[in-house]
Amino acid sequence: MKKNVAVVYGGRSGEHEISIRSARSILVALDPAKYAAREIFITKEGNWEPGPILPAPGANGDIDVVFPALHGTFGEDGTMQGLFELADLPYVGPGVLSSALAMDKEMMKRICRAHGLPVVDFIVQFRGALDAGAIEAEFGYPVFVKPANLGSSVGVAKAKDRAALEAALTAAAEYDTKVIVERAVAGREFECSVMGNRELLAAMPCEILPSREFYDYEDKYLLDKAVIELPAKLNPAQTEEVRRLAVAACAACGVEGMSRVDFLMDGVTRRFFVNEVNTIPGFTSISMFPKMWEAAGVPYPALLDRLIELALERHETKRATRYSK
Ligand SMILES: Nc1ncnc2c1ncn2[C@@H]1O[C@H](COP(=O)(O)OP(=O)(O)O)[C@@H](O)[C@H]1O
Ligand SMILES: [Mg+2]
Repeated sequence: MKKNVAVVYGGRSGEHEISIRSARSILVALDPAKYAAREIFITKEGNWEPGPILPAPGANGDIDVVFPALHGTFGEDGTMQGLFELADLPYVGPGVLSSALAMDKEMMKRICRAHGLPVVDFIVQFRGALDAGAIEAEFGYPVFVKPANLGSSVGVAKAKDRAALEAALTAAAEYDTKVIVERAVAGREFECSVMGNRELLAAMPCEILPSREFYDYEDKYLLDKAVIELPAKLNPAQTEEVRRLAVAACAACGVEGMSRVDFLMDGVTRRFFVNEVNTIPGFTSISMFPKMWEAAGVPYPALLDRLIELALERHETKRATRYSK
């Protein structure tokens, strides 16, 4: 029996176009012998085509599993996952809490820190109460300024002086009411794919070598000049350290299904810092999440099989839950 997979993509976030590219790759790679795939497209305005997923259990016809190929706000941040939970539909990727947690750069770091995992020092400020002086006194320069809940480097800036810091704070506060400022790490940047439910497995890490001052929006999506080393040129102990930290960060955030964990490494001390947990990483054929799995011996179509299996497995496990006495 073929499984009916609904690939939900597009969406209201700034990553709408990337989401379309992710969905295209997924739709091409889903084995037609195993799956009957259908598309559910969400416009930039938030309209669903051909129609919305409905929140009532059983109201969505014959959908067996949802594959959300959505990135960023209203897709990767737990809101969409909440709808799938209400509808009692199995879905690929982390659940409501870990999606929301991982999307919030402050909360993710707090959770990692509580689990003894290395994260960079940060300060949180709010729109209407931005205070460059306090940041300058604590960290000096350079610092990274980011909207707390966003992705794709949108609104992210590296500030090297007071004027740049003030401009960066104002700009970041346009994208989120909460802004996070971090001490800059001068060194290298790595990513590592993780997959699993209770038992999480890490793939082989890669290194990102940005072509610009840092891995910004242009470098990620427009310039095509950033160099990627896969597997990352790390010694065996460092490779294991990255893989261990990737799994630990996912476990700390309660990740189920998948995530791509991003790291910064201090060039002098060689210490790694967990920078991000991306719960719906890019899924284009050239995206790093699938590429790292390919390098670990899992081709793209088999990766999709496994993620769908994990979604169904989790849903099945939850089935036994009692919601009342
Ligand atoms: N504390 C930091 N030190 C050095 N570089 C950083 C730091 N934070 C972010 N960067 C750079 O900025 C990029 C985007 O920041 P990131 O936290 O990954 O946000 P996003 O969610 O938008 O991808 C990173 O890939 C890295 O190149
Ligand atoms: Mg990032």
